[in-house]
Amino acid sequence: MALHKDFESLLFSEEQIKTRIAEMAAQIDIDYKGKTPLLIGVLKGSFIFMSDLMRAMKIECTVDFLAVSSYGTKSETSGQVRLLKDINENIEGRDVIVVEDILDSGITLSYIMKLLSMRRPASIKLCTLLDKPERRRVQVDIHYRGFEVPDAFVVGYGFDFAEKYRNVPYIGILKPSLYAR
Ligand code: IMP
Ligand code: MG
Repeated sequence: MALHKDFESLLFSEEQIKTRIAEMAAQIDIDYKGKTPLLIGVLKGSFIFMSDLMRAMKIECTVDFLAVSSYGTKSETSGQVRLLKDINENIEGRDVIVVEDILDSGITLSYIMKLLSMRRPASIKLCTLLDKPERRRVQVDIHYRGFEVPDAFVVGYGFDFAEKYRNVPYIGILKPSLYAR
């Protein structure tokens, strides 16, 4: 299969993503045995990962979503986080797993983890498909991590640039000529 014309290179194939998610789901199954965790996805980037992750899990779980302000068409974070859509569920006493697409500067995730922690969940953990450690500005604890990625702008498998490429089934690096940093 030919690589998408806007991609500079392939990072993770469909097969690699599937294998890694099966491993992560198996670990969550073990860690939450006998419990019913609530998976909270951060829209929009995490929705594809969420649907594959929860179908790979065998334990009982429920799902909810929240949305925060995104980058718009720029590839750099503004440093400001805004809650655009809150979850519907009451999370008091629940075992929460926040499901995110990528941990970059950490600004978005530290805001979300603080916000949800204040609502007294029984436990709260973070599950991220990708981790870009070179770009971290705020320290955030990761409990489940799919892959580490270099400091490049990635697209595909839920990751967008200006809302495009989310439906590409693999993850790759976008051609830098397509955006100006
Ligand atoms: P943070 O606050 O800098 O950690 O930003 C995390 C959010 O930025 C993610 O949820 C993504 O929506 C977006 N993001 C960061 N890096 C990338 C990337 O390489 N490709 C696509 N989106 C990204
Ligand atoms: Mg995004």
